[in-house]
Amino acid sequence: MTHTRAKQLLPVANKPIVFYGIESIVRAGIREIGIVIGETGEEIKRKVSDGSCWNAKITYIYQDRPLGLAHAVKTSRDFLRDDPFVMYLGDNLIKHEVSELAKQYQEQDLDALIQLKEVEDPRSFGVAELDGEGRVIRLEEKPEVPRSNLALVGVYLFNARVHAAIDQLQPSARGEYEITDAIQELLDSGSKVGSNILTGWWLDTGKKDDMLEANQIVLDELPDKKNIAPSVQVDSSSRITGRVQIAAGTRVDNCIVRGPVVIGENCRLQDAYVGPYTAIGNGVEIVGSEIEHSIVLDGGRILDLGERTADSLIGHNAEVTRARARPAAYRFTLGDDSKVDII
Ligand code: G1P
Repeated sequence: MTHTRAKQLLPVANKPIVFYGIESIVRAGIREIGIVIGETGEEIKRKVSDGSCWNAKITYIYQDRPLGLAHAVKTSRDFLRDDPFVMYLGDNLIKHEVSELAKQYQEQDLDALIQLKEVEDPRSFGVAELDGEGRVIRLEEKPEVPRSNLALVGVYLFNARVHAAIDQLQPSARGEYEITDAIQELLDSGSKVGSNILTGWWLDTGKKDDMLEANQIVLDELPDKKNIAPSVQVDSSSRITGRVQIAAGTRVDNCIVRGPVVIGENCRLQDAYVGPYTAIGNGVEIVGSEIEHSIVLDGGRILDLGERTADSLIGHNAEVTRARARPAAYRFTLGDDSKVDII
């Protein structure tokens, strides 16, 4: 899914992941947002636009090489000036409020604030070591032998001191300028680094099962009522129960839709069952098929499958169909790194 597209634009409950972060930032009263972009920049600009729909001003900052998060901050130096700022990783989906962090940052008069979360296997994250009083004493990026199970969540608050710390950095083993090392540098130079332990969920959305889990958690928080746009046509033999959202222009004929489910605009659902924890994008067709606990991106088509599709992530304009043509065989056109499970 992310070979050709920006990971932070993959939808969870039909909303691009990066929108969740932007919305939390805006709720904290921050209206000047710089988005660091690289090779997927044009797609991000098209989708996120100028920020006016959030009453915010978005500036795009081009990072010419993916040299790490500290390098992204360095690239943003002119935009940031000497102001304190929040750095939020666009592919992190976090159940929290940036406003709470901003409050702690101000009340404790910190130079930097990091957010941490206990995880089972912290080896693929930055890892923090705290002392008995909960003060941060050491940070390490992706350690082979972690000193704690506290991973760095992808949201950080800094003041201008971080820039001098970044100027001291050497590239890490993976060839990147690590923000984790910059925070260690702040600690070493006597800056005040605070921490906040996240109690809500945090989802790393890199893999299919993480995406499905994120989708499930967010759909579970849908408001406890149906929200069906007035232009949606539902015939009398269809049954829609539970928390279901359906956007404009969609047609539902002879279907059972059992929430929590979100369905985008201009979809066609016919002789179908759409079960819990399914997010269906725009312009999707589900005909003569059953689906649950899945994500179907814009333009996806599931036609005449008969059997139920579950635990699946169907890409943009991907089509899954039961053909009548002989010889009876599976016929695939699969993109790079695709995965098909047949039972
Ligand atoms: C980055 C940070 C890491 C942090 C993680 C959170 O890792 O370097 O410290 O724990 O984000 O998502 P990366 O996504 O670059 O592997």
